[in-house]
Amino acid sequence: MSSRPARYAVVGNPIAHSLSPRIHGIFAQQTGEQLHYERLLVAVDEFAPALDEFFRDGGAGLNITVPCKFAAARWVDELDSRAATAGAVNTIVVLHDAANGALKYRGYNTDGDGLVNDLQRNLSLQLSGKRLLVLGAGGAVSGVLAPLAEQTPAVLVIANRTPAKAAALVERLVTDFPALAIRSAPLTNVSGEFDLVINGTSAGLDNATPDIRGELVAGALCYDMVYGGQTAFCRWALTQGAAGAVDGLGMLVEQAALAFALWHDKVPDTKPVLALLRNDG
Ligand code: ATR
Repeated sequence: MSSRPARYAVVGNPIAHSLSPRIHGIFAQQTGEQLHYERLLVAVDEFAPALDEFFRDGGAGLNITVPCKFAAARWVDELDSRAATAGAVNTIVVLHDAANGALKYRGYNTDGDGLVNDLQRNLSLQLSGKRLLVLGAGGAVSGVLAPLAEQTPAVLVIANRTPAKAAALVERLVTDFPALAIRSAPLTNVSGEFDLVINGTSAGLDNATPDIRGELVAGALCYDMVYGGQTAFCRWALTQGAAGAVDGLGMLVEQAALAFALWHDKVPDTKPVLALLRNDG
């Protein structure tokens, strides 16, 4: 008797251009998993009923992308520690209670560990002792701060257009990492020298770049958390003397690998997938 492959999806809005089905399809081939992975477009106010329906129909797991990660954190039954710290969920795992057969939904956030894995494994940048500047203080940034801080950078500065939002993130972070030099700054008034500058703002959606002084990126590796080859931030950073500029494609592949491992208990090989996607781009 043949059974239908387990059904997975990525949910968000917009979703048409998501690379997740492709990435998970390649991971499945690599590891011999049978699965079906699709894109689900939902309006934020229809998010909860859409998830109820997906899992009622036998869905085995979900990835969640912009702008639904906060709604996903409210929808699940429980949060793992990363998702709880971020207040945002990008992966939902179905748990089966062996005693009574009941299903439970647990939310994870693999974005921050995906970013750290891309920086350290793919880009060979060890973060310990490095001076880090993170731009932005929205959902994307709140998900990656704790994993970055765990790598014990020498300095971690969070700079945002609305300084109070960066200050609020720093206030939470210093409680968990009291020994680290962590501070916030207004975007237009950052001081210091940095080894790594991470753009976590959504300025690139309007093809804009965050308004920071060019000297801050000179000599630094610049990393844009969004992907799309040479993003506006990457292009600008290179004109200011950045040592390198990388988009977030590696972070996307690494966060997907961590989600895949949570679902299938198998760790896929990300390097060939990243090389393939870079070749396509
Ligand atoms: P996301 O989930 O993508 O992080 P978000 O929570 O809306 O989205 O956060 C967007 C971030 O990008 C914020 O830090 C925002 O700055 P404000 O807090 O001041 O709004 C930042 N951002 C968006 N457009 C920007 C721009 N043109 N220049 C600088 N920062 C920008």
